[in-house]
Amino acid sequence: METIHTVAGLRERLKGEPSVAFVPTMGNLHAGHLALVEEARRRGRCVVASIFVNRLQFEPGGDFDRYPRTLAADRAKLEAAGCDVAFAPDEREMYPEPQEILLTPPKSADQLCGDFRPGHFQGVVTVVAKLFDIVRPHVAVFGKKDYQQLHVIRALVRQLNYGIEIAGVETVREPDGLAMSSRNGYLSAAERAEAVRLSRALAGVKSAVEGGARDFAALTAAARDDLAAHGWRVDYVEMRDRARLATPVPGERELVALGAAWLGQTRLIDNLEITCP
Ligand code: PAJ
Repeated sequence: METIHTVAGLRERLKGEPSVAFVPTMGNLHAGHLALVEEARRRGRCVVASIFVNRLQFEPGGDFDRYPRTLAADRAKLEAAGCDVAFAPDEREMYPEPQEILLTPPKSADQLCGDFRPGHFQGVVTVVAKLFDIVRPHVAVFGKKDYQQLHVIRALVRQLNYGIEIAGVETVREPDGLAMSSRNGYLSAAERAEAVRLSRALAGVKSAVEGGARDFAALTAAARDDLAAHGWRVDYVEMRDRARLATPVPGERELVALGAAWLGQTRLIDNLEITCP
């Protein structure tokens, strides 16, 4: 595996590659990221993974400075997973001048995480558009763990005619059900034990719906109350339809329950797709 730090170097390496599968990341890689690399391996002749902690998508006072940077370990994991090229630009390479041109995310970004992280999705779509222009992949792979992000990226590709296929990969979980995340490393031992409650709360909503319950407002309120009763600060637990990421209309069957909540200083997100019987 090669590691390339410059845009010019990457363009040179990829010149003439007929099929590039791309996995954008912020590093500190875990098995969830590696599942994306494995999916990319199945879909492209050349697999490129980027590692770049994108300041633009962190809100002021967020965890940009303490976000873990572990390039050497990340490279070893990418190589073992079958990645061909790691693209690891520094901030000057990605943002050589102030990034004044910022993309406006779609309306579906003005809710859920977008309500609690102002500017976050603007930073995500701007850096992903830049990365798409730099890498020019034919397919890009994203995790369903960041469900709203995946939805927003699909809109980016449609509305700006990127002609890139977007593949979504199922969330990889710890044995107890906690969704893998670079931010899990912030949790104390006690918080780590408690953290599984978020996925269990969503699983509770799912099994109730599969059992015939249809009062989504009551189900998600119960999930929020359960989390709050155990010391969480809940940003949201909501039901959405999968196609539009909007409040489901009666009779809609393809749903997703999404949640975001804080344990101490750590914000965790998770979601579960639900198909009404
Ligand atoms: P990051 O949080 O590093 O995630 C990179 C990719 O890994 C995303 O597509 C995310 O959904 C996926 N991922 C994370 N945890 C996962 C899990 N447990 N199972 C499956 N996939 C998982 O998302 C970002 O970085 C950034 O916003 C980025 C798109 C790179 C733009 O800066």
